[in-house]
Amino acid sequence: MIVGSELHAWRAALLWFPDPAVAELRYCSDGLLVTGRDTHGLVRVVASGEYAQLAPQFTHLPLTWWPGLCIAPGFVDLHVHYPQTDVIASPAEGLLPWLEHYTFPHEKQFAGPEHACEVAGFFLQELLRNGVTTALCFATAHPESVDAFMTAAQARQLRMIVGKVLQDRFSPDGLRDTDTHKSLRQTEALIQRWHGVDRLGYAITPRFAPTSTPEQLQGAGELAAQFPEVWIQSHLAENVDEIRWVHELFPQARSYLDVYDRAGLLRKRAVYAHSIHLDDADRRRMAETGSVAAISPTSNLFLGSGFFDYAAADRAQLRYGLASDVGGGTSFSPFHTMHAAYTVARQNVGRPGLSLAPEHLWWQHTAGAAQALGLPGTVGNLLPGGEADFVVLNPQATPLLARRTAQAETLAEWLFAMIVLGDDRLIAHTVVQGQVALSAAVPEAGPTIGT
Ligand code: GUN
Ligand code: ZN
Repeated sequence: MIVGSELHAWRAALLWFPDPAVAELRYCSDGLLVTGRDTHGLVRVVASGEYAQLAPQFTHLPLTWWPGLCIAPGFVDLHVHYPQTDVIASPAEGLLPWLEHYTFPHEKQFAGPEHACEVAGFFLQELLRNGVTTALCFATAHPESVDAFMTAAQARQLRMIVGKVLQDRFSPDGLRDTDTHKSLRQTEALIQRWHGVDRLGYAITPRFAPTSTPEQLQGAGELAAQFPEVWIQSHLAENVDEIRWVHELFPQARSYLDVYDRAGLLRKRAVYAHSIHLDDADRRRMAETGSVAAISPTSNLFLGSGFFDYAAADRAQLRYGLASDVGGGTSFSPFHTMHAAYTVARQNVGRPGLSLAPEHLWWQHTAGAAQALGLPGTVGNLLPGGEADFVVLNPQATPLLARRTAQAETLAEWLFAMIVLGDDRLIAHTVVQGQVALSAAVPEAGPTIGT
């Protein structure tokens, strides 16, 4: 498969998952990653492992060497809203007032393609600055907002998935789909235009059950059956007031999840943000249909939504991964999200707190998130055949990080120090398709003293 034109070797410490389905990280202090372009034009990993073992097979290649830094898989954000980049840090008394007072008015601005292009460009740079190379993303109800995002992602050669939001009720003028049939035809046209173009994917995106009529949800389910390779994304069981509202609007449904089930919206490649207030029957139903949860702990803490139940999800074999949920979420940084996930799992909230291992947190934001997306081995890891999107970590990025990571005696301790102390400063470089897409700003040289 790998023909390997444009071969390039990258030398540094290396982190990867030998089995992408298992949350066990392998580390080597002197590693080699070899990348090359395949016959379809995609840059993939050709080899990865110990430098001493691999170097004799790959002599005379152009080499980039980063002593003291560590190559790791690019992060995958399972749920984020690019139009909410400027909604970050808007406090409210819970989800529904937050949507009404900040989010909906803000999203109305995306009717204008210029605004959408400007925000999409900033958003993608911010993802890359934070080491996120793939995301499953909401646009707004305006088809132009999808075009703007796809165009910006394509120009940067990124693997990104996005969808036009479907919302034909309980939404303000300028954001509401005034014609349900038209909103579904717009979705279909966007799928035809963008899904599978370069590394772009489309997601059918009903905002959440309350803001879609049963007809719109049914139509979304029909599109999901017609296009099985396309993703589905929505919100589920995030907040108790939201859930009460769903029960009023859909009295015949057994549960919130059942609303989506009846509409044909549970299947592989269906990603439900939050999935907090579920029962075991819901979790089992998600698992048996192949639907997955996008855990968004900074958002859940900020909006006071609740705590994802890891133990119950594991018992039901429900798959999940981590997500920023910006702008409900408070940070683009996977380190902040992993740290918050750890903190959330620790809480005793009518069930014993758990201590999630750092390898497991890391997996949830890389190989595990890729698996949840139905893209195992494609992104979120560095095994041969995978796409060459990766980050280069600088564990000395701040004085405290340097001090604490230097004292780590195990891999777990070292990873934990980065999860708890890390942010965008840890990302020295982000490499997309074998090209350095972004590097941390090099501090300006200080004043020269003397002659
Ligand atoms: N539920 C419906 N829309 C949204 C949204 O934009 N953010 C969050 N966190 N939950 C939602
Ligand atoms: Zn969301």
